[in-house]
Amino acid sequence: MIEEKNKFHFLVTPYQNRTLPIYRWYHFNHSFSRDLVWYLIDNFNLGCESVILDPFCGSGTTLLAAKERGISAIGIDILPLSVFISNAKLQNYNIDKIKYKIEELDKLLSNPDKTNPLIPEIKMLHKFFDPDVLSDIFVVKNWVQEMGDKELKYFFLTALLSITEKVAFARKDGGFLRIVTDKKIPDFKEILFSKINEMLSDIEHSNPQNNTKSRAQIGDAREIHFPGESFDAVITSPPYLNRHDYTRVYILELAIGFLRSERDIKRLRYKTLRSHVEAKEVFAAEGYEEPFKLKEIIEKLEEETLPNKHVIPMIRGYFEDMYLVLKEVVRVLKPGCFAAFVIGDVRYGGSLVPVSDILIEIADSLGLTHQETLVARLRGNSPQQMSKFGKISAKESIVIWKKR
Ligand SMILES: C[S@@+](CC[C@H](N)C(=O)[O-])C[C@H]1O[C@@H](n2cnc3c(N)ncnc32)[C@H](O)[C@@H]1O
Repeated sequence: MIEEKNKFHFLVTPYQNRTLPIYRWYHFNHSFSRDLVWYLIDNFNLGCESVILDPFCGSGTTLLAAKERGISAIGIDILPLSVFISNAKLQNYNIDKIKYKIEELDKLLSNPDKTNPLIPEIKMLHKFFDPDVLSDIFVVKNWVQEMGDKELKYFFLTALLSITEKVAFARKDGGFLRIVTDKKIPDFKEILFSKINEMLSDIEHSNPQNNTKSRAQIGDAREIHFPGESFDAVITSPPYLNRHDYTRVYILELAIGFLRSERDIKRLRYKTLRSHVEAKEVFAAEGYEEPFKLKEIIEKLEEETLPNKHVIPMIRGYFEDMYLVLKEVVRVLKPGCFAAFVIGDVRYGGSLVPVSDILIEIADSLGLTHQETLVARLRGNSPQQMSKFGKISAKESIVIWKKR
């Protein structure tokens, strides 16, 4: 695959965050990087008085990057994992309290008579972990759960969630969690303590202790419970229309930290944005009219052989959902302020769905004037793909709007 490289190329990926203190606490495959947020903060002229909204906050990149610049930011996400990890990165930690608890954890895991912990009845857990590892995971999880101190909970559960994939017979692969039966699983205690030490060193060296009032909370971007005109900017990245289902990719972490049954997981899956075929929740989209560009593409797609009969309803549902998101963004943004969305175009069959262009059309009807589209990457322009699909490549871009 040939891709065009420019300064935004890596910034729409989590590449930079992998090595940055605190950002690296939990690797979220679908993140963008700190420097993209800093670029936008400078570009939008935001200062310490500003408040930023990220309605799809994921692992909290926008919130932490804003905090490091002394700017408050509010994050919303439907996934409890995302909200937890985001908040974990925003705490002002007390190192001595953590060190004291590390000793306790060491003793707990070294105790040969540790009792068998309660494990939720979720089949995936038994499929993806060795029984001894699963038992150790829940010994730690239950120990964390009994802690009264919120900061300590954030710290230790984040460490546990962050090593989950490493100790599972699993590999995250784009939109999938693959089973890998021949994987060499590292020693649980060793890898957990190595993560804890890395996190501790990050706090010692770079925890930005300031008084920004940043936080993440559970919510749905289609219905933002904030008063009108409360934000000075929106910096976000909604799920791409690529069928990635976050409740499948992050199912192990969700099952360890937040959900008690298969039913809970399904319920959450149905509630997510309609960017994958299993999302079901429909909100009334009063005033929505399918954009002309989308109608044309749907007509083309109806003539194609698609991998799944739910793809066309999913595409329609996605834009209806994004209409609601943009409507909420317009409502909560102050007039004259900016919104930046990282958006990926997609291809189904031979047809390109120019997601960013369609969203620009929808946003304009709602009161957002398109400022510019910064193209970060182009996909599908290899000679083979060009001969198959023509010269139009799918772009991954940062779309910037101004509220009228
Ligand atoms: C592309 S990720 C955001 C990544 C983030 N920018 C970062 O740097 O980590 C999209 C997020 O949208 C969330 N999401 C999906 N449906 C949602 C909804 N209806 N409301 C709010 N968040 C939702 C997913 O859980 C996921 O965390």
